[in-house]
Amino acid sequence: MGDFAVYETMIPLLDEARRGKNGVGAFNIHALEVVPVMIQAAAELKTPVILQVSVSTAKYIGFGLLASVVREIAEQKEIKVALHLDHSRELEDIQAALDGGFSSVMIDGSQLSLEENIRVTCRAVDMARAAGASIEAELGIVGRGKVVTPYPYTDPEEARIFVEKTGVDALAIAIGTHHGQYKDKTAISLDALERIHRAVDIPLVLHGGTGVREEELGRLIDLGMYKLNFGTELNVAWVRAAQEVFGSAELDDSLRDLMIRCNLAMKGVIQNKIRLVSRLS
Ligand code: 13P
Repeated sequence: MGDFAVYETMIPLLDEARRGKNGVGAFNIHALEVVPVMIQAAAELKTPVILQVSVSTAKYIGFGLLASVVREIAEQKEIKVALHLDHSRELEDIQAALDGGFSSVMIDGSQLSLEENIRVTCRAVDMARAAGASIEAELGIVGRGKVVTPYPYTDPEEARIFVEKTGVDALAIAIGTHHGQYKDKTAISLDALERIHRAVDIPLVLHGGTGVREEELGRLIDLGMYKLNFGTELNVAWVRAAQEVFGSAELDDSLRDLMIRCNLAMKGVIQNKIRLVSRLS
């Protein structure tokens, strides 16, 4: 992928965060329309930001189109921005993201055995390195969906072996969090996190940030979680605003103005999370 100036891999963002004892917010893109306001949210606070996208949303928008838009906006702002593919289980989707110009990818082999996870992750690492991109992997399962199923925590010794054998830049781990949990809050095991943090030296990744109590975020960062993912809460804020805004709109009201109001609701959520993970007062 060549040189990144403001459009970066995750590596310098995570390095900087770690040096400053901060975290970096990684926010899920749910539609192309919201990308400018997501970057604007970070630019106003002068913090780096990771934008990430699911494989299905990336395919819906188009890998290349999304990367071009993010790169174009990043170049207008004076902050570092990384574009990351979230939870890819297929190497061909990783290649499509890299070919499209993503600066970072995730291979999610968490459903596989340790050996198979290591094998597929090593292949993804080679692909990312060849493209000059950063790479995250997952070990241990973070739940998903409306039913909260408890999964075992990531084993620290397995994490150590996994990181040593794959050479990934960041590792998503299971410590009790669950994707999409916005009604109740998660019971996180700080104990499990501390043991994993002691076993591996690379940045750990919080998945399922929406369900995490905001007052716990600082402690997670202290224990090595420098990338903190938030997705559902952004979607919830936009749709909640949309119910109100569109519900009371006239048919000939400007679609642009209606959407701006929804975008601003999402921007508020992003800025709140950035303030927390960057420990801005
Ligand atoms: P939430 O949607 O629960 O915030 O999780 C986001 C995430 O971890 C994306 O991988």
